[in-house]
Amino acid sequence: MDKKIFRKELEKLNAYVPGKPIEDVMREYGLTRVVKLASNENPLGPSPKAVAAVQAEAARINIYPDPAVRVLREKLAAKHQVDFDQIMVGNGGESLIQLTAQSIISPGDEVITADPSFSLYEISVSHMGGTVHVVPLLADTFQYDLEAMLALVNEKTKIVYICNPNNPTGTILGKTALDEFVDKLPEHVVLFLDEAYFEFASAASKDYPDGLEILKRRPNTIVLRTFSKVAGIAGTRLGYIFSNPTMIAEIGKSTGVFSINRLAQVAAAAAIEDDEHIEKSVALNKASLQVFKDFFDAKGLNYVEPGGNFIWVDVKTDTHQLYIDLQKEGVIIRPGFLWGWDSWLRISSGNMQDTEICIEALDKFL
Ligand SMILES: Cc1ncc(COP(=O)(O)O)c(C=O)c1O
Repeated sequence: MDKKIFRKELEKLNAYVPGKPIEDVMREYGLTRVVKLASNENPLGPSPKAVAAVQAEAARINIYPDPAVRVLREKLAAKHQVDFDQIMVGNGGESLIQLTAQSIISPGDEVITADPSFSLYEISVSHMGGTVHVVPLLADTFQYDLEAMLALVNEKTKIVYICNPNNPTGTILGKTALDEFVDKLPEHVVLFLDEAYFEFASAASKDYPDGLEILKRRPNTIVLRTFSKVAGIAGTRLGYIFSNPTMIAEIGKSTGVFSINRLAQVAAAAAIEDDEHIEKSVALNKASLQVFKDFFDAKGLNYVEPGGNFIWVDVKTDTHQLYIDLQKEGVIIRPGFLWGWDSWLRISSGNMQDTEICIEALDKFL
């Protein structure tokens, strides 16, 4: 068909490459067991309270969901001590990243992000005709090059994206560095703080900053979190942002009325109260990542101290081949070549059995 019908931005847009599904790898290599440590999911499974809530709600899916997502937003407001109108819920954090760009970016506007980082910022902004300045992370530490990012800020800059901890590297940007950056960032720029891995990062480091503290003193900030990771309900899709009420109202104008389905709403409203599941998820993540760290230490391989539920490691070999070799062994990981880091892997934490299976497979090649 004639592609002229599409927005011209789509011509150059590279779609997000998702982790390979287990079923595909089973079929491709004739395997009966495949371990997927590629999409930073929760290996403990979903919050049991969320599962029970979904089961109870299943008989009501003939009814449209609550467009205001009232029950969940009230619980989020109470838990995080913010106003109800400072919260917007999305069909996964992804949709909120897209809606934010759609609401703010016009052709000619500029944003600043990092490389490697979560690629959906760049995709969403490019889609709207915005210019994306991509600042490489500092080579030795994989930390944000905050000075270089600030140097790029001008009157056209609309959004600066900080993914904390950063995906795929897992690096945590500490309190002092973030505070200093925020103090220097001109007021007209929206600070987009992606805290998808908040619960893991808070447990991993005392120096991990809470974006809500920044929002309190800098209203032109958006803090993103999700139920996909620690709550283990990635499959129902439920993410949320905190910001100032005007930002929430404006971004909310272009979302579908019934875009947050009933099952996601009840699952999240139940998961938010499941402290036991959250604690167990954080503990399992720590235990799995420790096994990976011990293995890489023994092999003399460099890795970044993980702030999320995944580890970024230099396996000193080309990951194009290793990615395939591991799949033949029934293990799916995220190869670094996707971000242009050919000798690195991003491996999600797993349950202890899957962690061992992954390590046994890695051991055959490293
Ligand atoms: C940094 C980051 N932000 C946002 C998301 C989106 O999460 P979801 O759409 O599942 O809420 C992810 C998912 O992997 C992520 O890694």
